[in-house]
Amino acid sequence: MKFFVDTADTADIRELADAGLVDGVTTNPSLIHKAGRDFLEVVKEIAGIVSGPVSAEVVATDHDEMMREAEIVRKIADNIAVKVPLTIDGLKTCRKLTDDGTMVNVTLCFSANQALLAAKAGATFVSPFVGRHDDVGYPGMELIADIRQIYDNYQFDTEILVASVRNPIHVHEAAKLGADVMTAPPSVIRQLVRHPLTDNGLTAFLADWEKTGQKIG
Ligand code: E4P
Repeated sequence: MKFFVDTADTADIRELADAGLVDGVTTNPSLIHKAGRDFLEVVKEIAGIVSGPVSAEVVATDHDEMMREAEIVRKIADNIAVKVPLTIDGLKTCRKLTDDGTMVNVTLCFSANQALLAAKAGATFVSPFVGRHDDVGYPGMELIADIRQIYDNYQFDTEILVASVRNPIHVHEAAKLGADVMTAPPSVIRQLVRHPLTDNGLTAFLADWEKTGQKIG
């Protein structure tokens, strides 16, 4: 499963990329707002840090204006995936862009039927939001299982990008279900590293090593 990091914070992206944990990046208008930086400038910087797909979202809601924004966004770098909402205009934009060879991430997916439409529109990625589903009392992971089954039934190439990941259990479940990609905030990716038995084991090993009085090299 590929790991994307869901942030526009370039310091976090650099740190995780140095550890080999970043296959791509997703941003959205809320994350750009949080970063407090110019949209095109920060996306360009991110696209220079990672070689994998960097999702940058258009904010227009009608097709013509989406296409105009997409033209600007896709010129930032070769690894940009234009992010469009799962609406009729978004799907139309998706079809046009992917026909031209541009990567597209269809976002705000909340049903298996919507995911089916994204695949039919040729999406590179579809982003089902599991955390927001959990928030309203529907198990988000059931959606991932449904989409996996449907995509496998028809051999769709669209990659399932599990989004709105809020905790390590989401990552574990997404991997078991065979999701292609998950995108999580830096804090969740860091949580994956931590285990109390790793910390305890390391403390014990270092204490015993100290007792040997040795040094390496
Ligand atoms: C994905 O592309 C979205 O940016 C993100 O995962 C949304 O997460 P949230 O529901 O925690 O805001």
